[in-house]
Amino acid sequence: MTNSPIIWREAMRHTSLLSAIPDDLLVQLAERATDRQFVRGDFVCRDGEYSNSLYLIIAGEVDIIKDLRDGELILARLGAGQPFGEMGLIDDSPRSASVRVASDSLQVLELSRDDVVNLLQTHPGVLFEMVKLLNQRLRQMDIDHAQIMQAKIDELAESNQRLQKSYDDTLLALSQALDLRDQSSGGHLQRVTAYSLLIAEQLNLPPEGVESLRLGSLLHDIGKIGVSDAILHKNGKLTEDEWGLMRKHPAWGRSIIEGVDFLRRALGVIEAHHEWWDGRGYPYGLRGTAIPLEARIFAVADVFDALTVERPYKAAWSPDAAREQILSEAGTHFDPQVVAAFRAVYERLVEVMRRAEELEPHHALSPAGMRPLTAAPPQFPKPQLPGKMLDGGRRVGV
Ligand SMILES: [Fe+2]
Repeated sequence: MTNSPIIWREAMRHTSLLSAIPDDLLVQLAERATDRQFVRGDFVCRDGEYSNSLYLIIAGEVDIIKDLRDGELILARLGAGQPFGEMGLIDDSPRSASVRVASDSLQVLELSRDDVVNLLQTHPGVLFEMVKLLNQRLRQMDIDHAQIMQAKIDELAESNQRLQKSYDDTLLALSQALDLRDQSSGGHLQRVTAYSLLIAEQLNLPPEGVESLRLGSLLHDIGKIGVSDAILHKNGKLTEDEWGLMRKHPAWGRSIIEGVDFLRRALGVIEAHHEWWDGRGYPYGLRGTAIPLEARIFAVADVFDALTVERPYKAAWSPDAAREQILSEAGTHFDPQVVAAFRAVYERLVEVMRRAEELEPHHALSPAGMRPLTAAPPQFPKPQLPGKMLDGGRRVGV
């Protein structure tokens, strides 16, 4: 590019900002202008600095940049014939964006503040053009911003979903590991979670309650990690001392989970899923609505599942028999309102159970997706009805 005022005058004449200015004045301006050259990445003006110049781009492109905490945002890209720096001239305040060279090289004409102010005084039409240009640019920036913000929101939502999925996968793996150790409840977690959520839907549980219930269902027996294999897998009747240890699993569950921030919502179910509506449950003997609603819902789902699957010490009850048992315990073991919701969704609940059976016929001894632990299912005694205590004094749903 030739550094000639004549060439510059031509360049200035072709900018919409200066096109209305008489030739002789343009020549004067061009003679007083400073020719400045930059290379890619150079800053022409920096955020936070006062601006006393108006720049006209002769060749090349610049990015208008806003520095944000999590990176920079390109507000606009300007090319040949476009002015920048005018905001500083108008309000005399530090600029709130940087201007950086985006192309391999940039040539601008820098007009001083005094020259521009003089121009505005003698040719008010320039001011009008300047306001018009600013207005157009701000409108375009609004559109660009909206698009950029939407893209960022989408990106954030996607990354949240990925994070949530990795939490869920971790939880599921952890829970299945616990199930595998228990050896008595393959697929139990998926079923009790599905049953619980069906009942919750019937009760119009708010979304935060549903999330607590979902997490709690997956982790309800995590405290059993503190119960020894000798007790957990004992075939005969548990002694009083052994029962005492088994009954500590809700409290042990609390101490495992309470330090993990994103799992704290599961505490209600973990700690209170063996409490009874009439206060005869454990570990605290809570009564009625003192028991978190999520735990009251889960208790019904857990017992329904425990009754309807085979276990080494009992045969599977029919769903109808399990339903009758649960209905008979409304007001004693279970919250009557939750039992009513269970009754209302019973058919759908059985559908879920049947689908789980189709996927995994011997689910009682084979956690979902895992190798069966025994070559063939053992023979089980016929169910005894009614009865609160099943084989060996072991209460269902522990
Ligand atoms: Fe339990």
